[in-house]
Amino acid sequence: MQSLKGKIALVTGASRGIGKAVCLGLAAEGVNLAICSSSAKSLDAIRKELAGFGIDILSCPADLQDAEAPGKIIKQVIDHFEKVDILINNAGIAIPKPIAETTVSEWDHQMAVNARAPFLLCREAIPYLRKSKAATIINISSVVGYKGYVNQGAYASSKHALMGMTKVLAQEVFEDGIRVHIIAPGGVSTDMVLHTRPDLDPSILATPEEIAEIALFLLQHRGNAVIDEVNVRRYSNSPWK
Ligand SMILES: NC(=O)c1ccc[n+]([C@@H]2O[C@H](COP(=O)([O-])OP(=O)(O)OC[C@H]3O[C@@H](n4cnc5c(N)ncnc54)[C@H](OP(=O)(O)O)[C@@H]3O)[C@@H](O)[C@H]2O)c1
Repeated sequence: MQSLKGKIALVTGASRGIGKAVCLGLAAEGVNLAICSSSAKSLDAIRKELAGFGIDILSCPADLQDAEAPGKIIKQVIDHFEKVDILINNAGIAIPKPIAETTVSEWDHQMAVNARAPFLLCREAIPYLRKSKAATIINISSVVGYKGYVNQGAYASSKHALMGMTKVLAQEVFEDGIRVHIIAPGGVSTDMVLHTRPDLDPSILATPEEIAEIALFLLQHRGNAVIDEVNVRRYSNSPWK
């Protein structure tokens, strides 16, 4: 197992849900963190929770709908830490609607945050990741990244786009020693599911902490056996469906 102590990780969508759980897991391993979400106030709250771990924390509030934001975030990270080892593209937005009722702005919003921002963050981080011996990108996709669910047309399209980009990127940076993983969860008990699937009982969903444990496993097990993609099913869903 590789120690993560002293590594630098950028986590998007760090203010709550899966991103917050990933930050807490990384902080417990001594990873210094750059944390991003659109709300500076939410980042202040998570910063306070992380304060006890004795790590260096950089807040990068930014709206990832803005195509200029990823470049600015990576610049902030490099100005502060002088390097980056780990990029976790986790920020996401889901607007549940039938395709026939989805507006252009709703489509663009989901594509910008869920697909274009990870592409740009990867692109801007690659020159710095090439210099790291622990370079890893984890893109948080979804079961909706390889299946179709009604009322999730734009969200599914954005996650399919993210999956495609990630599969190509993994090959393109393979010889640079940058490892690129996908985690594709089913239902996880977060604000997003409360909003998109109010019909689901939160107690039957996976927890954000369980997804964080998977991310930590991928980062710590950097041997010859590599897991490119992890598909995670909530226990209450039937296997292989
Ligand atoms: N929950 C699930 O069942 C589930 C299943 C499969 C995949 N996922 C994926 O897991 C990831 C995390 O989701 P979650 O369930 O933890 O959702 P969540 O609790 O709603 O958190 C979403 C995070 O993304 C950030 N974010 C949203 N829009 C943003 C923007 N325009 N700019 C910057 N940050 C933005 C939010 O911060 P602000 O609101 O402060 O900006 C928040 O930190 C997403 O990519 C999601 O698609 C979730």
